[in-house]
Amino acid sequence: MQTLISPSLLAADFMNLKADVEMVNKSEADWFHLDIMDGVFVPNISYGLPVVEQISKIATKPLDVHLMIVDPDRYIEAFKKAGSDILTVHYEACTHLHRTVQNIHSHGMKAGVSLNPHTPVSVLEDIIQDIDLVLLMSVNPGFGGQSFIENTYSKIEKLKALVAEKNTELIIEIDGGVNLETGKKLVEAGADALVAGSFVFNSENPTQTIADLKQL
Ligand code: DX5
Ligand code: ZN
Repeated sequence: MQTLISPSLLAADFMNLKADVEMVNKSEADWFHLDIMDGVFVPNISYGLPVVEQISKIATKPLDVHLMIVDPDRYIEAFKKAGSDILTVHYEACTHLHRTVQNIHSHGMKAGVSLNPHTPVSVLEDIIQDIDLVLLMSVNPGFGGQSFIENTYSKIEKLKALVAEKNTELIIEIDGGVNLETGKKLVEAGADALVAGSFVFNSENPTQTIADLKQL
């Protein structure tokens, strides 16, 4: 299977968001990665439901929504209504993660769980069979343009081993500091999906950059 590419609109031009959404529509990208930050779980605030809703009106590819917020259960229904297809919550933000995953599924969305760089993949042991995607953070969440944390490669290997041991299937997605160099090693380590923000939108030809990532 080819690597799934999910460009993060956090690095898009918010003054011309429509143009960037259309660029992704026409590109070889598979998903739109939308980063929702509340200024509490992470030290930054991004954008919220009205923006997701507008993007969903013109996006022709699934919306891969990454919630970096406390108490995400309060907003699951709202993100479904806004057009989310995949809803990823942070392990560190959920006291009753199993209930949260059930709640996401009951709204007809794929459920993802994200792990901060310091959180070991072993915490997923008893939930891994219930989820569709794991989003491994390869930077500390909150900002685009940070440098990649090398420990991520071995985390992918540990996650793959856990997936095999539990005889299940899920998508392994990596978020933060992805470029052609880190992306290549991530795919070799077993990543199925790559998020890329600044590497795509700060490049001279974002459409071509997406195509280059897709080749990995
Ligand atoms: C960081 C976000 C990322 C961010 C990645 O908290 O979750 O999705 O947009 O940005 P880059 O690709 O620039 O590291
Ligand atoms: Zn993200």
